[in-house]
Amino acid sequence: MIIFSPSILAADFNRLGSQIEDTKNAGAQYVHIDVMDGVFVPQITFGEPVIRSIRADSSLFLDVHLMITDPGSHIQAFAGAGADNITFHLEAARDPGAVIAAIRQAGRRVGLSIKPSTPVSEVYPFLDRIDMLLVMTVEPGFGGQKYIEASTGRVAQARGYIREHGLPVDIEVDGGITRENIDTVLDAGANVIVAGSAVYHGDTRANTAYFMEHFKEYEKERQRN
Ligand code: DX5
Ligand code: ZN
Repeated sequence: MIIFSPSILAADFNRLGSQIEDTKNAGAQYVHIDVMDGVFVPQITFGEPVIRSIRADSSLFLDVHLMITDPGSHIQAFAGAGADNITFHLEAARDPGAVIAAIRQAGRRVGLSIKPSTPVSEVYPFLDRIDMLLVMTVEPGFGGQKYIEASTGRVAQARGYIREHGLPVDIEVDGGITRENIDTVLDAGANVIVAGSAVYHGDTRANTAYFMEHFKEYEKERQRN
């Protein structure tokens, strides 16, 4: 199944709750939450208190994307705040295996992410222990950037490996996803789709509904072939 994970980074934080509600009412399954620390990436966004507030008000799956250094020290905190999935960056962890184990121990789903410059093969040793691989399709740090075309081949490479080894791993794409390139990433093998600007700029509910309708059509078409 294709899962949609609208990124609140592009939301109007003054009315965050109702905006998330709009995505839910239009069928989105996840909320993508970008945690940035100003060290691993230049910008600082938000942390556990914001996640706790969203958790208290929403039954949606909270897809937390940590763009922070030393993620291992913060797993308990984010699990406690109500994250359903915790994704960390391979580049940020001294011992990725230990971070994966800590997320599991906390009873949360495990995501591992790579920046556009990190070879896909570097995640191979961890794919048997994670639930989701996040292939960044822009340089992490900011919303509203342009999709990096070389990402398509990277997603296809990861999907090929995962399929070949029969692993139950989702592939998430994040950054610069639009109505124009959505089929490109789906064709390459992504099944969890993040979009910030394409959802929250303009009519949030209508934008979400567009993508959900598109996924339905895409899956119908795929079954036919
Ligand atoms: C970028 C973040 C993304 C961002 C995507 O570092 O990880 O989740 O919100 O935003 P758009 O869809 O606008 O590129
Ligand atoms: Zn993200």
